[in-house]
Amino acid sequence: MINGFSKFSKKEKINWLVENYFHGDFGAKDIIEKYLNSDDKIQKIHDEFSENTISNFYLPLGVAPNFLINKKDFVIPMAIEESSVVAAASKSAKFWYTRGGFKTEIIKFKKMGQVHFKFYGNESSLETFFEIIKSKLLRECSDITKNMQKRGGGISEINLKNESSTVKNYFQINVEFDTVDSMGANFINSCLEKISQTFKNEFKNYTGFSKDDQLEIIMSILSNHTPECLVRAEVSCKIKDLESKEITNSKLFAEKFIAAVEIAENNISRAVTHNKGIMNGIDSVVIATGNDFRAVEASAHSYASITGKYTSLSHAKIVDDQFNFWMELPLSIGTVGGITNIHPLVKWCLKLLGNPSAKELMGIIAVSGLAQNFAAVKSLVTEGIQAGHMKMHLNNIMNSLNASNLEKEKITQILNNSDISYSLVYQTLQNLRKGEV
Ligand code: MEV
Repeated sequence: MINGFSKFSKKEKINWLVENYFHGDFGAKDIIEKYLNSDDKIQKIHDEFSENTISNFYLPLGVAPNFLINKKDFVIPMAIEESSVVAAASKSAKFWYTRGGFKTEIIKFKKMGQVHFKFYGNESSLETFFEIIKSKLLRECSDITKNMQKRGGGISEINLKNESSTVKNYFQINVEFDTVDSMGANFINSCLEKISQTFKNEFKNYTGFSKDDQLEIIMSILSNHTPECLVRAEVSCKIKDLESKEITNSKLFAEKFIAAVEIAENNISRAVTHNKGIMNGIDSVVIATGNDFRAVEASAHSYASITGKYTSLSHAKIVDDQFNFWMELPLSIGTVGGITNIHPLVKWCLKLLGNPSAKELMGIIAVSGLAQNFAAVKSLVTEGIQAGHMKMHLNNIMNSLNASNLEKEKITQILNNSDISYSLVYQTLQNLRKGEV
């Protein structure tokens, strides 16, 4: 147990960790300090994002060019550590570029939050009370909402919901928001806390309740379940146009692809992996554009199980010789606020995308998920996923063994067409160093 750790300087924090957990071994101090940015201004920005910061944790930033989205060209930035994801996105982008590109559509654009409370008493008194004070609940938020209203957003709806069939005496004030280009978490939570406070005060003063009617506010918080903030991304082309270097029989390919999607729609073991592939694309753009990938993940999986059965986020069908592949996904993201205006690389990535609005970025992110999913399923139903993965995997293994560039070149040649494993690469490197190959 240590008291006052947060008050230590960065140097003191590192020293304390190195002494107590590494006992001077492992080059621990050196490693952690190497990842600090030499530009003090940049380091300060990163230090201030979080608490008890001792260094930076890098992710590679890659780009996937050749995306045609709604007839506009994009190079998509992707921050991800997993090999093959950026390559797969780029491949998919190129494939669809000459087949009409991707199309996107915003289906809904609302965010939700709730004041969760318990009410003990006569429900119709509560309903009457709510109707009377509804407009005051909104009015009291006007200091918080006025700037958002100037940008075209604000609170669009407020209603009372009886949830007592799920939890005894449980009700909600359910509030709908339009947060325009911001993700809006702080805005929503501030509004909800104000609504909850006003609700509580007004409850005390309302003469229509009997003395037995009781209110207990439990909590006020936005919901990361955002099925009302929904985007669609799609591709389609004639089956015969699917033909390419890798797809020689386009009809067979289309049928196998659709069968693979149908399996993901109906089998949870496959659905989760299928959706994980989609999230490879989604998360990497969400991170590169400074958005909250935990929120996006939570909401995507809640949407995948919204019918009560966890299913694939993407779907495919053939209609009149036309291959159609699409996905609908909730995406609550922003292009202003949060770290979007502070993190230099996030600003850079947004600029690379032409400084999109939140709605445009929803489309771009959804496309990166669909592209990723297309590439993964295409590989799975044709050559299998490992051929591409193993090239990258080999590189990671060689790097972990500190192979030199020359050694890497030789090992890649020697192991061409072999089944890659750590022990095989290790042994080949040892043999190479002993001059045995
Ligand atoms: C690996 O990160 C993602 C895949 O497993 C996705 C899929 O199976 O569809 C390749």
